[in-house]
Amino acid sequence: MIVTKSIAAARRQVGRWRKQGFSVGLIPTMGALHNGHRALIRRSRRLCDRTVVSIFVNPTQFAPGEDYRKYPRAWREDLTICRAEKIDLAFAPVGRTIYPTGFQTSVHVGPLADLWEGAARPGHFDGVATVVLKLFNIVGPDVAIFGQKDFQQAVIIRRLIADFNLPIRLVVVSTVRERDGLALSSRNVYLDPASRADATAIFRALKWARTRVRRRDAKAAVLRARMKAEIEAAGRFKVDYIGFCNPETLEPRCRLETPLVILVATVCRAKGAAFGRRYIDNVLIGV
Ligand code: PAJ
Repeated sequence: MIVTKSIAAARRQVGRWRKQGFSVGLIPTMGALHNGHRALIRRSRRLCDRTVVSIFVNPTQFAPGEDYRKYPRAWREDLTICRAEKIDLAFAPVGRTIYPTGFQTSVHVGPLADLWEGAARPGHFDGVATVVLKLFNIVGPDVAIFGQKDFQQAVIIRRLIADFNLPIRLVVVSTVRERDGLALSSRNVYLDPASRADATAIFRALKWARTRVRRRDAKAAVLRARMKAEIEAAGRFKVDYIGFCNPETLEPRCRLETPLVILVATVCRAKGAAFGRRYIDNVLIGV
């Protein structure tokens, strides 16, 4: 496995593989790797001859007051995981490599970024799209692998690829969960035992709603109220939104027809913390 912080070195290596006729898969990450990231790596290894993982905690997708500085960093463990998963190249640039002095050109995502996570985190998806486009340009993958866990992000990256005519195939991998259903997330390490237990309500509520939608016996307002009550019951999580939407446009659906994605965002505010951390999840129905 090659590990580099350098754009030139990453490019050179991928260039060599290209000359040899190898296909390349890229998994962009912010590190603190877990089994969700591993699933993405494994998919890439099945689909492509060479797999590149980027590790970069991207400052431009965090708003002031969010957890950029406190975002978990686990460099050594990340490299151990990358090695164990037999990736070929770990690209881990530092901040000024990606955003050198004078940097001033960004991607602005349209209305898709005004909805849901984007409404709660203005500028977030511009930061994501900008760094992902840079990573695409640096690595030049054939395939990019993203997780369904961040559903809106995957939809926006699909749009980015189409809008900029990038010759990249997007593959979205199903959400990897703990045994009790909680979606794996780098932020789960922050949950104290009580919050960790309460967090299971998020997927429980989603599964319950999925069953009701499949049986065609519910209205969005009714489902939303029950889900909110379930998630907020113990008082540690607050629902930010529950959206029933078209999986392509992310626009809310008036009637609960499939295909449908149910998006949930919650905020967990630990005692004494200045800000709450966001925990998001979703289920896709009828796709
Ligand atoms: P990060 O949160 O590290 O996630 C990297 C990739 O792993 C994303 O595509 C995400 O959807 C996927 N992922 C996270 N948890 C998952 C789970 N439980 N199951 C399956 N996949 C999961 O998303 C980002 O980083 C950043 O926004 C990034 C795209 C790297 C841009 O900075």
